[in-house]
Amino acid sequence: MKNYNMTGIAFWFVFLASFFLIHSGVIGQADNTGFVSIDCGLPDNSSDKDVSSTLTSTLTYISDAQFIDTGMNHNISEDYIMPTLSPQYLNVRSFETGVRNCYTIKSLVVGLKYLVRATFMYGNYDRLNKEVVFDLHIGVNYWKTINISDPGKTTIAEVIFVCPVDYIQVCLVNTGLGIPFISSLDLRPIKNSLYPAANSSQSLGLVRRLNAGPTDTTIIRYPDDPYDRMWEPWSNLPYWNETDTTSYIQTLPNDLFEAPSAVLQTAVIPVNSSEIQFFWDVDPTDKFISYVANLHFSELIQTDQKREFTITINNVPWYKNSFSPKYLYQDTIYALRPIDGFQQYKVTLAATVDSTLPPILNAVELFILLPVSAVTTDNGDGEVNFYLQHNLIFIFADQNY
Ligand SMILES: *[C@@H]1O[C@H](CO)[C@@H](O)[C@H](O)[C@H]1NC(C)=O
Ligand SMILES: *[C@@H]1O[C@H](CO)[C@@H](O)[C@H](O)[C@H]1NC(C)=O
Ligand SMILES: *[C@@H]1O[C@H](CO)[C@@H](O)[C@H](O)[C@H]1NC(C)=O
Ligand SMILES: *[C@@H]1O[C@H](CO)[C@@H](O)[C@H](O)[C@H]1NC(C)=O
Ligand SMILES: *[C@@H]1O[C@H](CO)[C@@H](O)[C@H](O)[C@H]1NC(C)=O
Ligand SMILES: *[C@@H]1O[C@H](CO)[C@@H](O)[C@H](O)[C@H]1NC(C)=O
Repeated sequence: MKNYNMTGIAFWFVFLASFFLIHSGVIGQADNTGFVSIDCGLPDNSSDKDVSSTLTSTLTYISDAQFIDTGMNHNISEDYIMPTLSPQYLNVRSFETGVRNCYTIKSLVVGLKYLVRATFMYGNYDRLNKEVVFDLHIGVNYWKTINISDPGKTTIAEVIFVCPVDYIQVCLVNTGLGIPFISSLDLRPIKNSLYPAANSSQSLGLVRRLNAGPTDTTIIRYPDDPYDRMWEPWSNLPYWNETDTTSYIQTLPNDLFEAPSAVLQTAVIPVNSSEIQFFWDVDPTDKFISYVANLHFSELIQTDQKREFTITINNVPWYKNSFSPKYLYQDTIYALRPIDGFQQYKVTLAATVDSTLPPILNAVELFILLPVSAVTTDNGDGEVNFYLQHNLIFIFADQNY
């Protein structure tokens, strides 16, 4: 792994000049023991298998009865039951009483890194057809505001965090804008060396995790991803063309992200352009937003030609050198220091003058940094001592490229 300290470049904006960019190699296999998969609202002592056609997962989900003793179970309305719907969405647990209702998952290991994912589909379970907005906390720390306005849409929240105690609490907080509810809750142990930006003072709240290339709707997760991260397909026809390989993508030693081969085996290449561009927007009401992005690469085409490109964010070099992905080896460009200070972030991958091939992009992860409070106890009235208003942020493919 090579480190590139960018502070010496005088013409940079101050906040960008402090970027500490790292070019890391990547892979490995993880043990999947320690997964906790909870179907919220499922009757006690029952379980279901997630074998829906939109997921590659075959995980067994258990009832939430042993993790919480408040709330009520409901089935969603028949109007929203589709053959492709994962069984976890068929029922929810809702919290008519109490401001703060918490799930507790025990027997965790202090100081280890975990991924927690909560999913929500309203499905008009209360037959009231109402919008609902509530907050999610992880322990005492604010995680995300859940805003449900489409009853048939699934909403997914994910956070990667270092566990300060031997249990974790996921709390749904009523903010006066409707009855909080939840469809499922996942806990996945993550190797501690992965996602170095997640530590005891900050967590990573997922914005998007994108698998560039596929034009279908298949989400890649466990078992293709041993950590059961969910990688959404991402394409931009007709401006980007998909390229893929059936060959396994190797990782370099000390890989810090271990993006799965199945994700890296597809990529996009621009059509009629020497650039790939995409951007995301900050909601103007957002105040304390810092982003962490990971760009994952592998060359998929065996060629004597040169594929070399630069990476900029808002026209400022994000990665010091031009970059050439290795053939069938994973590589990740990321920054430990956050990106902030703009309302819009435009990422450009541009072929260098020496390059005879356009840039390639295999996958993107974008996170918001969430501060972690030193307070770890949670007796029901431990209050958040900071507030982040992060509304939904989209990553758009730039239509001009
Ligand atoms: C679930 O199973 C446990 C252990 O077998 C039992 O004690 C408990 O009563 C069961 N709960 C219900 C609601 O059947
Ligand atoms: C939910 O539906 C299942 C059958 O799909 C039924 O057994 C169960 O009683 C229903 N639960 C509620 C709370 O209506
Ligand atoms: C929730 O989302 C809807 C639709 O996007 C929006 O109109 C509404 O203002 C949002 N509510 C809150 C409290 O953010
Ligand atoms: C967490 O990471 C950030 C960014 O690298 C760093 O500034 C901070 O000191 C780290 N916190 C701990 C407790 O290591
Ligand atoms: C690419 O260029 C060809 C030839 O000029 C043109 O027919 C095609 O529409 C272009 N495609 C895109 C996506 O711009
Ligand atoms: C897209 O990729 C396919 C397969 O590699 C290739 O046959 C096709 O010509 C490409 N299309 C464009 C517009 O470059």
